[in-house]
Amino acid sequence: MLLLQIFSIISVCLLMLLGRWLLHSYQVINRVNEDLQAANESLERRVEERTRAFKQASHALQVEIDERKQLESQLIGAEKLASLGQMAAGIAHEINNPIGFISSNLGTLAVYFGKIQEVLEAYKAAEHQLGSPECLEVLEGVKTRLDLAFIEAEVPLLIQESRDGVARAAQIIKDLREFSRADTNPQWQWASLQRGIDSTLNIAANAVKYKADIVKHYVPLPDIECLPAQLNQVIMNLVVNAAQAIGPERGTITLRNGVQGDSVWLEISDTGTGIAPEVLPKIFDPFFTTKPVGQGTGLGLSLSYGIVQKHGGTISVRSLEGVGTTFRIELPVRQQRPEQGAVN
Ligand SMILES: Nc1ncnc2c1ncn2[C@@H]1O[C@H](COP(=O)(O)OP(=O)(O)OP(=O)(O)O)[C@@H](O)[C@H]1O
Ligand SMILES: [Mg+2]
Repeated sequence: MLLLQIFSIISVCLLMLLGRWLLHSYQVINRVNEDLQAANESLERRVEERTRAFKQASHALQVEIDERKQLESQLIGAEKLASLGQMAAGIAHEINNPIGFISSNLGTLAVYFGKIQEVLEAYKAAEHQLGSPECLEVLEGVKTRLDLAFIEAEVPLLIQESRDGVARAAQIIKDLREFSRADTNPQWQWASLQRGIDSTLNIAANAVKYKADIVKHYVPLPDIECLPAQLNQVIMNLVVNAAQAIGPERGTITLRNGVQGDSVWLEISDTGTGIAPEVLPKIFDPFFTTKPVGQGTGLGLSLSYGIVQKHGGTISVRSLEGVGTTFRIELPVRQQRPEQGAVN
């Protein structure tokens, strides 16, 4: 009996010891568990921080890549513009001289031919007083053989046509000068957007005339403070794009302008292919082009965007596939901070 009691007591003691040991183990496991969870959370936090830092770095990298692309396109554009301007100014200068003397010579020729005509009239009047009918016959024969009446009527027309041609060439030179005006050293100045549009249209005439009719809905515009040669470049890019978007069938390019508060606006619409909705968000990206290699560099619109932005203006586009596209430029009449001197 006593032995049983002792055994029971020992068993209870052992059980208590086992319980305490189990409790202790449980506490240790719990603590280890908590430590593990804390380590896990800290690891997750660090992973999150690293991921965030990585995302920030990759975003910064993307921004830098975009900026570099934009800069590169501006650089190429500025170079293109400067060399185009220099070339245009050079050609204009070289052609202006011969045009000057051709024009002046044609004027003199017209006056001299008038005098020759007077002499001819006097001869004709004197012919009938010639005593010799043989002589008269010879003269009549020469006049008929050389078709003098035709020549007399034709020469003034030829001179007039040549004078018109020279005047047209002179106008093209003027437009070329206007188009490239001072773009080797661009200055903010007050200029007529309208004049820029018209001289640019004349320069672009070759790219447009076989593809589209130009329709103008103009209202008078005030002069605006701008970099005229650069705005001409924008108009040129938009007009050439419009012409290129028109397919084999002849289309129409419509120009509209207007004044809205302190801004002027210009819209250039075409009846071309239009732009697919998935392409539309990319068209202002530098080097984005849907044109075959060798036809488009994809710089026209990104450069135009930069130039309009430099003017504190906006450029926007509406397009319907198969119907056509309209680009709209809005420009402030006066610059907020008129920069004096040269700009890039
Ligand atoms: N009027 C338009 N109609 C249809 N698509 C247009 C029009 N204007 C621009 N686009 C689209 O936008 C793209 C980018 O135009 P952007 O003028 O920048 O470059 P590009 O004309 O391809 O080449 P670049 O002007 O350098 O010769 C064009 O390739 C074309 O897909
Ligand atoms: Mg283009």
